[in-house]
Amino acid sequence: MKSTFAIVFSVLGLAYAHPTRRDDNPIRILPPNWGFEITSLRGPGCPDFGVPDGKDRHTRLTYGMNTVDGSEIYYSFIAYPALRVELGGGGGVESTWCETELQYTEYKDGAGRVEGEDYRLRLHKNGSIAVSTYDIDSGVTATFRFTYLDADVTDSNTIRGPAASGEITHDVYLAGPTSGSPHEVTECGATKLRFRTELKIEAKGEGRKKGVVDSYHSTDDQGKVQYYGTQMGFSYDWQKCKK
Ligand SMILES: *[C@@H]1O[C@H](CO)[C@@H](O)[C@H](O)[C@H]1NC(C)=O
Repeated sequence: MKSTFAIVFSVLGLAYAHPTRRDDNPIRILPPNWGFEITSLRGPGCPDFGVPDGKDRHTRLTYGMNTVDGSEIYYSFIAYPALRVELGGGGGVESTWCETELQYTEYKDGAGRVEGEDYRLRLHKNGSIAVSTYDIDSGVTATFRFTYLDADVTDSNTIRGPAASGEITHDVYLAGPTSGSPHEVTECGATKLRFRTELKIEAKGEGRKKGVVDSYHSTDDQGKVQYYGTQMGFSYDWQKCKK
């Protein structure tokens, strides 16, 4: 499946995804260009308000990817460096969350200069994806939840220990009861989107247990740990608006 993706990296807070075309010409339904921008962040999982820190370790949009085989599945990812949990000495439960508001803009031109209203965005085309690292003992569970607040749909996945991703971030597919049922937003063209991200880790039974869910990290010259950020990918596609 991955080989059908075009992956596009973005700069700063504005993520553009330029689709790549193939020769067999499946029907594609998409505007010439589009962008997302973080307009509001709330919660302990995103205390930086998305303000750039010069190290790319703030809450930010990271990349987009899409299928090019006519299935029209689009994903865009948001990285949350502070969205991480670790069990304390006594075990129990630890959790964190963030509510994110994005401004979505459609463009009539590839360069992204002229705004358009020719397409209607549809959220939740194919569930959601978390990109994370984790290391949890037996008896420990880690749960990712991602809610499309405008669509009232929640996707989730629970990882049961023992489980370890290794240092390299791992894709965790989140599915909900209505995965793959897209939800139309009301407007054609630009709109606001709202998402809630939650991460919870829970230990059952006696004794001290290891449990951490975080993201790829390194230590800087000042000895401070810099987290790349747990990434959450939301999915979407478009419908052409009738004129
Ligand atoms: C769609 O979701 C399913 C299940 O969550 C996943 O296995 C599949 O890879 C996803 N497709 C794409 C193109 O991401």
